[in-house]
Amino acid sequence: MKKVGVLISGRGSNLGALIAAQRDDGPYRIALVISNIEGAGGLARADAAGIATLVIPHKGKTRENFDAELDAALRASGADLVCLAGFMRILSDGFARAWEGKLINIHPSLLPAYKGTRVHERVIEAGETRSGASVHFVVPELDAGPVIAQASVPVHPSDSPEALAARVLEIEHQLYPAALRLLAEDKVQLEKGLAIFAEGAR
Ligand code: GRF
Repeated sequence: MKKVGVLISGRGSNLGALIAAQRDDGPYRIALVISNIEGAGGLARADAAGIATLVIPHKGKTRENFDAELDAALRASGADLVCLAGFMRILSDGFARAWEGKLINIHPSLLPAYKGTRVHERVIEAGETRSGASVHFVVPELDAGPVIAQASVPVHPSDSPEALAARVLEIEHQLYPAALRLLAEDKVQLEKGLAIFAEGAR
């Protein structure tokens, strides 16, 4: 059973999916949810599930100092793994290295396509016919780490960014718990910059 820390900044629907998929006899247990934003919707979800929460504001701190506070809180909680779930801060290289292979993120595109922000707008503008979501190991370079799991959905010609976001979000909620389970069961690991899967893991 791996202990997991989840970092959020917003409504936390992916956090909700990770909580919903958690089982007493499952491979992971969420030990702590940290938000950099006070009142983030995800904090209430964690509270309701009886999970410890912590707010660590980023304002007025250097990136390194903020990340050091995150790191200390995660270590104190006994976290083995860390999930970014709508966490809207770029982490320092030092933090990413310290948690290398233990730190994962979900991004609403078929990485390596459409890293960064305004993903759905850009996908629609480019006339793509498919988009999707990716769970990946976090490395210092933004949205660039090896992919653990991906799922795709169609893009309809009439889609607004909001409509596409909602379709992608639905698969995010299936993908993230499945990817976390793989990692928590040691069926995937980061090795020399590659996601290496155990036999039968995919
Ligand atoms: C998701 O679309 C996720 O892929 C992205 O930020 C959004 C977070 O949504 N990184 P939520 O807070 O989990 O509802």
